Amino acid sequence: MLPKNSAETTLKFKKLRVAAALVLGSLAPVALADERATLCDRLGGAALLAQVADELVEVSRTDPVSAHHFAKVNLKRLKQQIGIQLCAVADGPCVYDGDDMKAVHAGQNITQADFYRLVEHLRTILDAHGVATADKNELLKRLAPMKRDVVTK
Ligand code: HEM
Repeated sequence: MLPKNSAETTLKFKKLRVAAALVLGSLAPVALADERATLCDRLGGAALLAQVADELVEVSRTDPVSAHHFAKVNLKRLKQQIGIQLCAVADGPCVYDGDDMKAVHAGQNITQADFYRLVEHLRTILDAHGVATADKNELLKRLAPMKRDVVTK
């Protein structure tokens, strides 16, 4: 129904402005909170990344293509260190104090195909945990430069 006079029109616009301000006001803190969160937070926190590392090592050590690399390794330590490293790389509260990437992978004959296979496992695990595509890609982008330290063959 059309408003009868200009006073009524003005009132309706005022009400609309108040409603818009309330909606925008309630959305603003959410948007700010997301911008401030670290990649680690957005991925699900240090605990989730520890779980991801656990699964990544389990999948890699039981994958017939890469199992031989992990046959003589302390798996508990490996899971822990990868979890800490993922958390640190994602600006989380962890400080990586494990071995130097180049030194620990040296002499393991890791190929580019091995590297991309592990990245694919990681991608699948992150997907299974419902990580957002942009956050997953950001993490993978930050890990990519490690290829030069890991691949030796
Ligand atoms: C972005 C890719 C990778 C990351 C971030 C990564 C990270 C790590 C970390 C944090 C450690 C533990 C270091 C420590 O114990 O102090 C480690 C060790 C190890 N990595 Fe990787 N790694 C990657 C790729 C690979 C690939 C492709 C393979 C083989 C298929 C591999 C095989 C191993 C093995 C066997 C060890 C244990 C070495 C040992 O304890 O003697 N890694 N890696």
